[in-house]
Amino acid sequence: MRIDIITVLPEILEGFFNQSILMRAQKKGLAEIHLHNLRDYTADKHRRVDDYPYGGFAGMVMQCEPIDNCISSLKSQRHYDEVIFTSPDGEQFTQSVANGLSLYENIILLCGHYKGIDHRIREHLITREISIGDYVLTGGELAAAVIADAVVRIIPGVIGDEQSALSDCFQDNLLAAPVYTRPADYKGWKVPDILLSGDEARIKDWEINQCYERTRLLRPDLLDED
Ligand code: ADE
Repeated sequence: MRIDIITVLPEILEGFFNQSILMRAQKKGLAEIHLHNLRDYTADKHRRVDDYPYGGFAGMVMQCEPIDNCISSLKSQRHYDEVIFTSPDGEQFTQSVANGLSLYENIILLCGHYKGIDHRIREHLITREISIGDYVLTGGELAAAVIADAVVRIIPGVIGDEQSALSDCFQDNLLAAPVYTRPADYKGWKVPDILLSGDEARIKDWEINQCYERTRLLRPDLLDED
């Protein structure tokens, strides 16, 4: 899978995508993440990509031309399944949205900034808008990082133990069971006996039971969803 991220702040994202699991996914050829500096796509001699909004509103708006240039250049090289704009008024990002995106070959993530982007881009070039939560960030970079991370980690082969991605919170609309490691007794804080029993079937039952218990306790709303 290939993810192209268009941003005015590629430096923020470079370090993030060059660390452990995401880096390994790219080295193994399972994912390609390409960062594009929007300023490389403007003819403005000061590399400006924003301007004042019509109507006298406050803030600055990202202009059509550099965004159009960048998206058109990418689209001339390959087909994209989605051109996604990260925005607080987009659809809510969930595990099921991540699962769907992970099946695609190529996606573009456009990070917003300032007051927003010229609406004509949203009308003509964007195929999907995604929000990572009901709060407003200073830019879409963190949202793009969240989306790319959640999508890449579920590509088969990215996480060593495939089972671990499947047993995540939210994969079945359930929270995950608690996990423990050595020592079995730390300052008198004990690991549940069942996990030391070696009885795989009973341990599996315990795990499923914990998933339901924790979901009922912490996120009962998830049990109401289909
Ligand atoms: N840009 C600013 N805030 C955002 C949010 N909550 N989700 C996605 N993109 C954003």
